[in-house]
Amino acid sequence: MTDMTMSTPGEATLSQAARKFGVMEMPELEYTEELAKEMAPLYERVSSVIPSVEWPFCAPYIKAINDLKKKRKAVVLAHNYQTPEIFHCVADIVGDSLQLAKEASNVDADIIVQCGVHFMAETSKLLNPEKTVLIPDQGAGCSLAESITGADVRLLREKYPGVPIVTYVNTTAEVKAECDICCTSSNAVQVVESFGAPRVLCIPDEYLAKYVATKTDVEIIAWKGHCEVHERFTAEELRAYRKSDPAIKIIAHPECPPDVLAEADFTGSTSGMIDWVQTKRPPKVVMVTECSMSDNVAVETPGVEFVRPCNLCPHMKKITLPKILDSLLFLQDEVTVDPNTAIRARQAVERMINLNN
Ligand code: 13P
Ligand code: SF4
Repeated sequence: MTDMTMSTPGEATLSQAARKFGVMEMPELEYTEELAKEMAPLYERVSSVIPSVEWPFCAPYIKAINDLKKKRKAVVLAHNYQTPEIFHCVADIVGDSLQLAKEASNVDADIIVQCGVHFMAETSKLLNPEKTVLIPDQGAGCSLAESITGADVRLLREKYPGVPIVTYVNTTAEVKAECDICCTSSNAVQVVESFGAPRVLCIPDEYLAKYVATKTDVEIIAWKGHCEVHERFTAEELRAYRKSDPAIKIIAHPECPPDVLAEADFTGSTSGMIDWVQTKRPPKVVMVTECSMSDNVAVETPGVEFVRPCNLCPHMKKITLPKILDSLLFLQDEVTVDPNTAIRARQAVERMINLNN
């Protein structure tokens, strides 16, 4: 495991970051008439996906977070799976894993608050060793990241000498440090082909590896990791959607099993799926992925009807407005990576970014 520092509010347990940047006062969290008026234009934008009964709870947090971001010189990076009140109301930068990794290397801020899962925060830290990187809930993990360890990768190297190892970014820094290069769902084929090798290990997502194998002549060796959200979709349910409305468009994330992808009209990363909907504007679509994403896209694509099979990522959903506020107030939970691991893991991420550029 990588070295992670966790801290909670309170004098005795103040994080390094809190000692460096100081502690702020708890803001008022009342939904006053004045606040309702100030926040009305923002609510109008998200009213189709945030019920009016929830807004009086969300609005004071959104205001407090946005004020505190300025005072702290902080930026909020949010993955496409974050809920709409985070994605549309407090995030400065949103995107898929590749976009967030690239943006993380360009941010002009002292503090990065990563609204996503732990491997994403770790990637931001790798690319910004001098910045303070916070995750509002250190327990936001990922079933793929948990499916493989650095020791497993070392055994693979022994078993397949000379075969390049590509790791999905959904892994710990410890695993990245043992691999040759990272990939994301949007560049996996390009990364695999970049070696010019006849065989490549593509870990840890078995289904992403199988998807890549359908797009290249390179022989792909896979690991048996799965995303606990995407593996739940079935081809049968997608056929039922198609039967109920033959005009429906089905678009899927490559972490889905192969028989599910075989039913899809389009397969791509989370941002690839968003771009597809924004460009094609189908009358009705089912996004076969984590279900908050449909809400986020619906805000920007009126006229498109979204069928929403609701498979939530329990890890992404650990990030909430109150935890983001605490994160900024108490500068918790700070993400750190052991320096020796970080040097090698950073190389794997940077090779991917440079290849893409
Ligand atoms: P993307 O890189 O497509 O955003 O995927 C990340 C992820 O965790 C999907 O489950
Ligand atoms: Fe990991 Fe799946 Fe959640 Fe993405 S949706 S963070 S791959 S568990």
